[in-house]
Amino acid sequence: MLGLYFSGTGNTKYCTERFVHRLDSAGTCLAMESIGTAAAILSHEDIVLAYPVYFSNLPKLVQDFLRENGPLFARKRVFILATMGLFSGDGAGCAARLLKQYGAVITGGLHVQMPDSIADEKALKRNREQEMQLVRKAGEKLDAAARQFAAGKPPQDGLGAASHTAGLLGQRLWFSQKTRDYSSQLKIDRAKCVNCGLCTSLCPMSNLPATPEGPHPMGRCTMCYRCINSCPGQAITLLGKQVVRQYSLTDLLP
Ligand SMILES: Cc1cc2nc3c(=O)[nH]c(=O)nc-3n(C[C@H](O)[C@H](O)[C@H](O)COP(=O)(O)O)c2cc1C
Ligand code: SF4
Ligand code: SF4
Repeated sequence: MLGLYFSGTGNTKYCTERFVHRLDSAGTCLAMESIGTAAAILSHEDIVLAYPVYFSNLPKLVQDFLRENGPLFARKRVFILATMGLFSGDGAGCAARLLKQYGAVITGGLHVQMPDSIADEKALKRNREQEMQLVRKAGEKLDAAARQFAAGKPPQDGLGAASHTAGLLGQRLWFSQKTRDYSSQLKIDRAKCVNCGLCTSLCPMSNLPATPEGPHPMGRCTMCYRCINSCPGQAITLLGKQVVRQYSLTDLLP
């Protein structure tokens, strides 16, 4: 089994690895931005495709990945795993509709609630105990879903017509422009930046090339929040104006 994921801050990577390895201890898990994804897709029949939901939609990087690699998914059995901070309606349905156009067979969908990765907005912030509980529950949900999958009855989260309507009305009608293109809204506060180079090396879009004055955003941000959550100077912002609290999944795992 192949787990193919995009994960800005680690939630989706954790969920993919847990789900895939419950089903196949020798299964391979690969990030979408890594080398060798096309060969991996071609050599597997069962694929778990996983991503975080952004504004009830696919991150732009995931949209582009699926469009560029769509034909490789023909006749593949694809189970879709979507992580989210609260709600997505049809998070799994977004990729399912696209992949069906390329002839993929969608075997099921799973929505997993995880801590919110947006570091510069207070909206979904919970205390540490609540976040640890969320991660525990997510683990239980993943294990239960793996058992259902193994029994031939995979969950179908986000794939039906009611979910589609909920995703549209709940968010996409109002926020669809947010994920239509890469963002040029990311800002770096030069006074806070210590020019450590970490964001440059972490960005999956190579959006932060180094310059003598510090990293320079190129307007190709997929809004994954990886750099914002990792910056030692809390110098980077995107949707909000200042970093409220940085997020690290490793602090919440047992
Ligand atoms: C730009 C952005 C938009 C998001 N939009 C939603 C959303 O519409 N609904 C939701 O429940 N969570 C939303 N989230 C939260 C993430 O989906 C959630 O934290 C996810 O588990 C992060 O996964 P990752 O650690 O693999 O990047 C959003 C996060 C970001 C960065
Ligand atoms: S991670 Fe933060 S401090 Fe380091 S170079 Fe990037 S913006 Fe500057
Ligand atoms: S600039 Fe930061 S938030 Fe944007 S894609 Fe790169 S790492 Fe993610």
